[in-house]
Amino acid sequence: MQKMQDDTVTLRLLAPDDALAYRALRLRALAEHPEAFTSSAGDEAEKPLAWSVQRLGADAARPHDFFIGAFRGGLLVGMVGLQGRYRPKERHNATVVGLYVAPEAAGQGLGWALMQALLARARSLPGLAQLDLTVTEGSPKAQGLYARCGFAVWGVLPRAIRVAGRDHAKVHMALALR
Ligand SMILES: CC(C)(COP(=O)(O)OP(=O)(O)OC[C@H]1O[C@@H](n2cnc3c(N)ncnc32)[C@H](O)[C@@H]1OP(=O)(O)O)[C@@H](O)C(=O)NCCC(=O)NCCS
Repeated sequence: MQKMQDDTVTLRLLAPDDALAYRALRLRALAEHPEAFTSSAGDEAEKPLAWSVQRLGADAARPHDFFIGAFRGGLLVGMVGLQGRYRPKERHNATVVGLYVAPEAAGQGLGWALMQALLARARSLPGLAQLDLTVTEGSPKAQGLYARCGFAVWGVLPRAIRVAGRDHAKVHMALALR
């Protein structure tokens, strides 16, 4: 009998038990798209699994921090995160980080779905009023997705990152949640 492929997609919060899959997908994202992310694959590969376990764990001191994963057929194929800022004067702000969809799952609405899930959760968190993010200049797919989600460009930092000797600017975007 032919084995049926399970293409069911589910989105859910990542938890410490997802650390292995999260770490593997994160390293893949950084290796495949070095210009898209500020973290480097080499540095991140040296961090122990415990770092990922901690990053995915709930922390009462960091209530705005979370990661959402997209699973297809039970495999983690996409993710996005939110990182709060916790000094009192900027506590109403948080930063979208690490949006990635693996090529085998790309172009099917997962990036959009991940961003909608992130925005819904962010809106449900009391005290959070504004989100920001940066996207490398010359990434029309990601920048277009963020714009369609309501993010607006407020500035561009030239020479923000240097990858293999080449400078890239970072486009800064923000979205008022309420
Ligand atoms: C950017 C990235 C996350 C997009 O993921 P994806 O799953 O391929 O994207 P989607 O299929 O959800 O969206 C693609 C398009 O459909 C739109 N879309 C999808 N579903 C939609 C819906 N239900 N309603 C409205 N628009 C929708 C998106 O806005 C986007 O528009 P475009 O075709 O004009 O580009 C992915 O290409 C990636 O991981 N890139 C490399 C890493 C990267 O650049 N990350 C961003 C770091 S800042």
